[in-house]
Amino acid sequence: MRIVICDNYDEMSKKAALIVASQINMKPNAVLGLATGSTPEGMYRILVDMYNNKEVDFSEVTTFNLDEYYPISKSNSQSYDFFMKKHLFSHINVPEANINIPNGEACDAEKECEEYENKIASFGGIDLQILGIGQNGHIGFNEPDEFLYSNTHKTGLTESTISANSRFFASAGDVPKNALTMGIATILKSKKIVLLACGKSKHDAISKLISGKITTLCPATMLNVHRDLVVICDKEAYHG
Ligand code: PGA
Repeated sequence: MRIVICDNYDEMSKKAALIVASQINMKPNAVLGLATGSTPEGMYRILVDMYNNKEVDFSEVTTFNLDEYYPISKSNSQSYDFFMKKHLFSHINVPEANINIPNGEACDAEKECEEYENKIASFGGIDLQILGIGQNGHIGFNEPDEFLYSNTHKTGLTESTISANSRFFASAGDVPKNALTMGIATILKSKKIVLLACGKSKHDAISKLISGKITTLCPATMLNVHRDLVVICDKEAYHG
């Protein structure tokens, strides 16, 4: 694991955007794994600027998002589908056919998850996966538990995540109770992983991750087995 400690959110975002742009410049048809949440918003803003300045071209890129609430309609402004269009996809030239997000409107969640997993594999896996981290150490919607799932699956959200995400909804009661998410193995099969973390509230989870110990009670610690993980965080996430 490599750890990059930044002065602030903007520096973290810039470093992450440069890694994404380099990946695409090295391999124009790169397969990107993308994340939602407030952490990567700055990175997406910089990537849009880089696209406008012709520093990166998304025309051959394929994307797979980590997760989506379930059930949720794509037109719901809190859906991750909506988030990705708002912050990235509607501003760049990635073809719509190349965009993949677990379908929160699928009637059969199990079938949707199986097809999603297979589709990632059919592209030869993810070249670069961007991750955030939950205050409780979740990655995607892989929440702390005695057992974790390997592959893309439907899962319940913990109270901690419902409460953290309720800031985006009218009330905690409006946060969907389930999600579709890549599993731990889906994430670990990515060739390169960049995890972003910003702020004191992430310090506990980041400390556990960099301790080197592995526990399903902090799913991010599973990333310790990956051979190409870069953690880019600000001082507060690192030092507390
Ligand atoms: P955040 O969420 O970026 O909004 O803090 C991160 C996560 O829960 O994975």
